[in-house]
This record gives sequence, C-alpha cells and structure tokens, in this order.
Amino acid sequence: MSWNRKHLLDIYSLSKEEILTVLDTARGFKQVGRRSIKKVPALRGKTVVNLFVEPSTRTRVSFELAAQRLNADIINFTAEASSFKKGETLKDTIRNLEALTADIVIIRHSSAGAAHFLSRVVESSIVNAGDGAHSHPTQALLDLYTMRDKKGDLEGKEVTILGDILFSRVARSNIWGLQKLGAKVTLCGPPTLVPKSLESMGCKVTYDVREAISNADIINLLRIQHERQQHSMFPSLGEYSKLFGLNRERLAWTKPDALIMHPGPINRGVEIESEIADSERSVVLEQVTNGLAVRMAVLFLVNGGKGESFE
Ligand code: CP
Repeated sequence: MSWNRKHLLDIYSLSKEEILTVLDTARGFKQVGRRSIKKVPALRGKTVVNLFVEPSTRTRVSFELAAQRLNADIINFTAEASSFKKGETLKDTIRNLEALTADIVIIRHSSAGAAHFLSRVVESSIVNAGDGAHSHPTQALLDLYTMRDKKGDLEGKEVTILGDILFSRVARSNIWGLQKLGAKVTLCGPPTLVPKSLESMGCKVTYDVREAISNADIINLLRIQHERQQHSMFPSLGEYSKLFGLNRERLAWTKPDALIMHPGPINRGVEIESEIADSERSVVLEQVTNGLAVRMAVLFLVNGGKGESFE
C-alpha cells in the first residue's frame, strides 16, 4: 500500500502509486457495498464532520454514507444554519469542531485554497470536497475509478473533456489524475472557457467538437459553472448547446464504445441531451455509486489505513 498522508487536499501532489492505492482500496469497499451487511468497523469511535459551505448533493451525501458505512459518528454542518451567519470565521469554526473531537473534517468551500488553509491550522485530517475552481480530488478519483473499471489501464487512452474547463475544479483535477495514469487529454469548448493557455498543462486544446470526440475512448462533459463566472462567457445556453452540446448527431461521430461521463449536476439539454444522459452509453449514475466506495477508501486511508476494512 502506498499511502502515508493525513490529508487529501488535491490530486496533483499525489503520486501514481498513491492514486492506485485509493482506487484499489475503493475496489474492496465496493465489494462491501454488495454484502447484505454493508458496514465495516474501520472508523469505529472516530468523528467525521461534513463541513459544507457551498451547495452539494452527491459529494455531501456520499461522504455522509461513507462515514456511516465505516461506523464513524458523522456530523453534518450546514453553513446556512450555523454561526457563520453571525460572522464566525472558518478558522474559529473548525477549531470549535475540533474541540468537539472531530478526527476528520471534510470541507467544501467556494474559495480556492480553503482546504490547504485548514490543514495548516488544525490537528484533524482534512479532506477537500471541492474548493472554488481549484480542486475536487474525490471527484477525479471516482472518475478515474469508473474509467478504469470500464476501460482497464488508462495508459495511452484518449480522454476528451468538453465544456467549461476554465472555471472547473473537476477539469483541473481530472487532467492531473489522468496524466499521472498515462492518459492523453483533449480539451474542447468555447474559446472563452477553454483558453489555448491550457496547453501548458500538457493537454491538446481544440474548438472543433468533431475532432475532439471522434477519436475519444472517454468523453467527460462538464457543466457550465454560472456561479463562478463574473459575466457571461458565451451568448446564450441555447448557443452553447447548439455548438458544443452532445446530441444524437454528434454522438454518431463517436466510437461506438466511447464512455459518456458527467460529474453532475447535469444541465439537461445544454451540455448533454436528456436521452443520451439516460442511455446505456452514459455511466453518470455509476460514477455516483463508485463515489461512495472511493470516499470510504479516502476516509479509511487518511485515518491511517488501519482497522478492519474489507477482509
Ligand atoms: N459532482 C459534484 O461535486 O456534485 P455535487 O456538487 O452535487 O456534490
């Protein structure tokens, strides 16, 4: 096992071996999820805090379920109903949670760097559940898990990320993770959301959707992140859908076995037609299922990888 980290803050600082350790550990936890009793006592007696200062459905719920499946006590902290509203700082908030014996704090925040900051001011393990447009490591890990599950070794595989790359922590985290596992990454979308400068990350950038998707083994569609854009980066959602959305005509350009992925939440009819999102080509819900096993693996590993897991 290659893991000696107290925190999970990003993907780019992980080695290929560490990424593979998370994915292999997750495979064991996925088996646990198929048993009649889906719980293991790996985190018994530990306290996990879900500190979400930005909205979430998939990440928050799957971390909560992951902690429960590992037998931890879980506290769900919602910013809207907390003393954040009275002006308490993030640092004071987490110190108070630590005083209540939090062992692992899962943080989602709209500011890039929030998880790194917390890791410097507390003793608890910090897990980044998405910080601004910077990083979303567990999303990348569950995407990598799903890709390897469906396509095997990712060395040399062609992966296209289509959509809002500039404002996407999912894109950045996927690019880093995919490159560490040897995949070739192509980025596509409107020039305002996919600047040529992204080639400096070692990716190919194209504005031609046909070129981007026709040779891809995996196509990962990303949501337009209105909440992070200061002003509109393209004329309209209808225009985006017409030029870059995955519709039936464009699906016909792809390899018959190309995997269609989306991290969610989906803007149906914008980045993907509803019918395709719900089709057999799409693994959107499998990504969510795999996210539970991956998050169990992450909690288990940042806790030291000790205790009964899935033997
Ligand atoms: N993919 C993702 O992070 O979804 P949520 O915002 O619902 O957690």
